[in-house]
Amino acid sequence: MGRPEVDEVKSRVDIVELIGRYVTLKPGGKNHKGRCPFHPDDTPSLVVSREKGLWHCFGCGAGGDAIGFLMRIERLSFPEALARLAQEVGVELKGGGAKGELYRACQAVAQFFSRQLRGPGGARARHYLLSRGIGEREWESWGLGYAPDAWDGLLRALGHLGVETLSALGLVIKGERGYYDRFRGRVMFTLRDDQGRPVAFAGRALGEGQPKYLNVPNTPLFTKGTLLFGLDLAKEEIRRRGRAILVEGYTDVISMHAAGFPETVGSMGTALTEGQARLLSRYTDRVVIAYDRDAAGSAASLRGMVVLREAGLRVEVAQLPQGEDPDSLARTQGQEGVLEVLEAAKPFHRFFLDSLAERYELKSLNGKEAALAEARELWPRIRSLPLRHELAQGLAELLALPEEEVRASLRGTRCPLHDEKTDDRIAAEDLVMHFLLSGKLPEQALAQLEVDEFRAEYRPIVERWLDLWRAGSAPDAQTLAGQLDEDSQAHLARLSLLDLKLADEGRAVDDALTRFLYLPRIERRLARLREEMARAEQLGDTAALRRLEAEYQELARKRLTLLRRRS
Ligand code: UTP
Ligand code: MN
Repeated sequence: MGRPEVDEVKSRVDIVELIGRYVTLKPGGKNHKGRCPFHPDDTPSLVVSREKGLWHCFGCGAGGDAIGFLMRIERLSFPEALARLAQEVGVELKGGGAKGELYRACQAVAQFFSRQLRGPGGARARHYLLSRGIGEREWESWGLGYAPDAWDGLLRALGHLGVETLSALGLVIKGERGYYDRFRGRVMFTLRDDQGRPVAFAGRALGEGQPKYLNVPNTPLFTKGTLLFGLDLAKEEIRRRGRAILVEGYTDVISMHAAGFPETVGSMGTALTEGQARLLSRYTDRVVIAYDRDAAGSAASLRGMVVLREAGLRVEVAQLPQGEDPDSLARTQGQEGVLEVLEAAKPFHRFFLDSLAERYELKSLNGKEAALAEARELWPRIRSLPLRHELAQGLAELLALPEEEVRASLRGTRCPLHDEKTDDRIAAEDLVMHFLLSGKLPEQALAQLEVDEFRAEYRPIVERWLDLWRAGSAPDAQTLAGQLDEDSQAHLARLSLLDLKLADEGRAVDDALTRFLYLPRIERRLARLREEMARAEQLGDTAALRRLEAEYQELARKRLTLLRRRS
C-alpha cells in the first residue's frame, strides 16, 4: 500500500528544487526563503526546509510537504501529485492511486462484517442488537456487522486484499508471531465519510471486562476528529430541518434517527474539533447539543461548544434527565419525550452560566473564585464580541460583582501560565509542539503528554506522533505530514519551521513545558481544591477544610517554586 511508497517518493524529492521551479528561493539560515505563490506577498514569507522536507508560508498560513505543494500549485489531487513526483524520482507505484485501493478494501471489509452478523457465528451479536431495539433495517442502513471471535477471522477471509492494506486500515496488528485481527467478538460500526464511503470501523464489546468501544487508529482514510458519525445519512435532513442534533455515541445516533430525528450526528465521544465544526457549518448554522448530563458540563464539552460557536454556528444545549443518554431517552420516552427535552434547550451562554450556578456555591467567596477561574479558561477561546458581552454580563449578575471588574478579571492576568515575560513572540503550546516535532522533548515528558491538553487543531498531530513513538519508531515531521489531513499538515509545517534563536535549548524546552503543561496542571488542581473547600465550608466540615487548605498551600508553594525557577 501507499505509505512506504509515499515516504520513499518524498525522501527522494528535493523540495527546494521543486518549489524553486515556481518561486525564486534564496538561502537564509538553515532554510530557504521566497515569495509565497499562494497569496500576494511583498515580503518573502515562504520558508522551505530541505532537511525537513517541509514548506510553510508565515503570511497566509499554507504549508505542508512536497506533495501538498504540487497539489496546490498545479491543482492536482493527491494521487495525481504523487504519481507525477514518483515518476520524476523513479519510484514505481503499485496499481491505481494510493487511496482508491484503500477505499475499495474498506468497502469489502464492511461487507465481510455485515455477512458475519447474519451468519451462524453472529447469533450472539444479533441477539444483542435486537435486545437493544436495533433491528435489521438499522443493520442495513448503518452498516452494522460482527467481527468473529477469532484471531484471524478477517485475515483468513480477506487476506487476498493484502496484509499491508489491512494493516494500513488499522484492522490487523503485527504481533510477535505475525498479524492478528484487531476486532474480535465485537459488534461493528462502519464509520463513513460525508459521501457515504466506509473509511474506518469501531467495535463494541459484547461482554464486560474489556474496553467497551475499540476504534481503529488514524489511517490515510480516517483521522480522528475529522468525521461525524451519521453525517452521510443526516446531511440532507440537516439542511431541510435547518438544524443538526449533536450526540456523543453511535447508539445515540442510531436510536435518534429511529425515533424521528434523522438530523442527528455523533461526535464519537471525543472533544469536538474545528474540522468537525466546519463540516457541520456546510449544512446548517444551528446545532442542538444533546449529551448526557455529566458529559455536557465537562471542560472538554464546553470547549467543543465554543469551537462550534466560533465556527459561526448557533449553539443550544439540551439538558437530558440525570442518568439518561439520547439512546435511552429515545427508547424509553419516544419521540415525544425527546422533543420535550430538545425544546427546552438553552443557548450556549445561558447553559454555561446555569451550569456554573449548579456546580458551585456562588454565595461563598471560594465558589465565586472557582466559577471565575472556569470562565477565565474559556474566555480567550471566545472571539465573538456579543457572546463575550453576554457572558461577562451574565457572570457579573450571577456573582453579584460589578461587571467591569468581572471583565477585568476575565481579561486580566490569565494566571501565571500566560505570563508573557520569557517569550512573548511564541505561545508556550507552539514551542512544546516545535520541540515535540523536532524530537527534543525528554522521554519523561513524552510519557505524560495528554492529547486533550492541546488545542483541537494540534491533537491529530500529537496523537499520531505519540502513536508512532509508542510503537517504537522515531517519528519525524515529514513522515508525519504524509499521514495527516491538509489543515494538520499546515500546522505541522508551521510549527516545525518556527525560527527560534535559543541561547540555551535545554532551558527553553523546560520552560515551555512548565508554562504549557506543568503550571496549568497545578492551576487546574488548585481550582478543583477551591471548589472542594467551598463545599466543605458550606457543610461546616472543618476537618476536611483544614486538610484541603494544607493541600492547597502545598500546591501553591510548588507553583511558586516553578515560577521562581523560570525567572
Ligand atoms: P458511551 O460510553 O456513552 O457509549 O460513549 P454509548 O454510545 O452510550 O454506548 P452503549 O449505549 O453503552 O453501547 C459514547 C461514545 O464515546 C465513544 C464511542 O463513540 C461511544 O459511542 N467511546 C466510548 C469510545 O470511543 N471508546 C470507549 O471506550 C467508550
Ligand atoms: Mn448508551
